[in-house]
Amino acid sequence: MSIYVITIDGPSGSGKGTLATKIAQHYHYHLLDSGALYRLLGLSLEKRKLIEHLHENLQECIDIARNLNIEFLVTEQGIQVLLDGEDVSQTIRTEVVGAFASKVAVIPELRTALLQRQRDFAQLPGLIADGRDMGTVVFPEAQAKIYLTASAESRAQRRVKQLQSMGEDAKIADILSNIQARDKRDMEREVAPLKPAVDALLIDSSELTIDEVFTQMVNYIDARLEKAFS
Ligand code: DC
Repeated sequence: MSIYVITIDGPSGSGKGTLATKIAQHYHYHLLDSGALYRLLGLSLEKRKLIEHLHENLQECIDIARNLNIEFLVTEQGIQVLLDGEDVSQTIRTEVVGAFASKVAVIPELRTALLQRQRDFAQLPGLIADGRDMGTVVFPEAQAKIYLTASAESRAQRRVKQLQSMGEDAKIADILSNIQARDKRDMEREVAPLKPAVDALLIDSSELTIDEVFTQMVNYIDARLEKAFS
C-alpha cells in the first residue's frame, strides 16, 4: 500500500499552518510541521548557549539535531510540543525563537541532519508536510504539491493579530520588516531556498478566506489522488 504525501510550502503567514492542519484532519493523514522542527532545534541550541556559535561547534550542533528529544502530542487544544519533556508549544511560536530557527535553517549540515527525521513522518495512510522545501527537497516524489503564498502586507496583518491573541505586543511596521527580511533570507539562501516546486499548484491567499483556500486545495488534491490511484 502506498503512503500518500501532500506537500504545502510557502512563506510564514500565508495560512499554511492552519490549512495544513485542516487538510490533515480532512484526509485523516499525519501532519509534519517542519518549521516546528527548525524552531525546536533553534531553541535547543540556544539553551545550550550554542546559537551564536553554530559554525565553531558544528559537529556538536549536528549531533544535537540528530538526537533532538521531541514529542508532538495531539490534545483537545491542538498539538502540544515537548522538548526534553518540557511543554514548549507557546515558546516556539515567539518571534525570538523564529529568529533562532532562521539561523539554523541557513546551515546545510543542520538541514541534512533534520532530513531523515522529517521523512520518518511519512506513514500510512499519508502525510501532509508543511514547510519551505517539502516539495523540492524533502519529498520530491510527493503525489500532490501546493505552494501557498500571500503578499507581505497581508501576512504582516495576520501575524499581528496572531501575536496580539497570544498577549504579545506587536507593531505592524516591525512585523512587516521582519517578514521581508526573513523572506529574503529564506528565498536567497543557497541550500533549499523557498521556491515553488516546478510541479506545484500555486495559490495566493491574500484576497481569499481560509475556507476558499481549503476548497481549492481539496479539489486539487482529490484530482491528484484519483490520478495516483488509477
Ligand atoms: O514556518 P516557520 O515560521 O515555523 O519556520 C521557521 C523557520 O524555519 C523559518 O525561518 C524557515 C525555516 N524553515 C525552513 O527553512 N525549512 C522548512 N521546511 C521549514 C522552516
